[in-house]
Amino acid sequence: MSNKIFVLALAMLAFATTAAHADPKRVRLPADYNPATYLLYAIHNRPDNGQVRYIYANSVAAEAAKTDQGLPNGSVLVMEVYKAKLDAAGAPALGADGLFEKGELVQYSVMEKQAGWGADFPENLRNGDWNYTVYSPDRINRADTKEETCLACHKPLGNAAEYVLSWDELVVKARGAVPTVVAGPGAAGPGDAERGKALFTRCSNCHTADKSGKHKVGPNLAGVVGRPVGKATGFTYSPALQLVGATWNETTLDAWLAGPQKLASGTKMVFPGFAQGQDRADVIAYLKTLN
Ligand code: HEC
Ligand code: HEC
Repeated sequence: MSNKIFVLALAMLAFATTAAHADPKRVRLPADYNPATYLLYAIHNRPDNGQVRYIYANSVAAEAAKTDQGLPNGSVLVMEVYKAKLDAAGAPALGADGLFEKGELVQYSVMEKQAGWGADFPENLRNGDWNYTVYSPDRINRADTKEETCLACHKPLGNAAEYVLSWDELVVKARGAVPTVVAGPGAAGPGDAERGKALFTRCSNCHTADKSGKHKVGPNLAGVVGRPVGKATGFTYSPALQLVGATWNETTLDAWLAGPQKLASGTKMVFPGFAQGQDRADVIAYLKTLN
């Protein structure tokens, strides 16, 4: 090889390396993405924007979620975002399972973790080594994805939950059962209301949190801390919950959010519970801000 060509080759190599490094959208929807080979671990109705979202984990993430070691490099989570089908009245049509019926596919939202990927971002945005991107229904990368907005919204979940909003559901599904609750009320650090607010997306399908007093599937939660159990005006509670003669405070809410069925067997609140004491403490801190 002549010197000139060698230098050129080196320069091209250097260019290729820096180009790859400067690309903030390193996530590639896996070429072999086939939902049937992924673990479908959560489905979320989104009444706020008329969507229903199917969340999948690749085998690397699904296997790791059985342990307490967090998710390793190579983990990929894919969220298929669908428009909900509408009924005659123009409201999302509900299937027998209570889920919105799937309409048109809107996009794939993807997050992937690989060694060193966090280095693309400043500390105030960085989600460990996770990167994010969006693919169109025909699986073309949306070049206009603003990864910073993804990072900012997922950041409050923190490293312990791998920046995953549906972390708790992934853990529950991967382990095939509700994990034993180890962290009691005292085990968690002080509640972080901001993080709790982000986690409240797990509740807002069923609960409003404003002072409207409006009930959804569950009762409005403004003022719930300090209120006797089962006493929101105009909401019909299950007999099971009414039997719990207590007041909602940090201790009772912690038990409730660890496993509603354990506190009130037969309750109609369908929620697996937060396995992590810190998640419960943070949501409770947020609930306190609603008074
Ligand atoms: C306004 C806050 C917000 C922003 C911005 C946001 N997300 Fe999310 N993301 C959520 C919520 C909430 C969920 C849980 C699913 C649901 O209920 O919609 C979620 C779930 C996900 C999931 C499934 C895994 C998980 O964390 O639960 C992926 C993948 C994802 N988002 C990717 C993205 C990408 C890519 C972007 C940027 C284009 C993005 N998100 C921007 C709030 C956000
Ligand atoms: C699938 C719907 C659903 C989800 C998700 C859900 N809840 Fe509920 N929630 C209910 C229902 C229904 C009740 C009434 C239970 C009963 O009567 O047995 C309830 C009751 C409650 C109560 C008791 C209120 C009172 O007035 O006594 C609290 C507190 C509560 N939920 C908090 C939460 C929080 C916090 C979350 C999220 C971490 C959550 N819920 C998620 C449906 C839901």
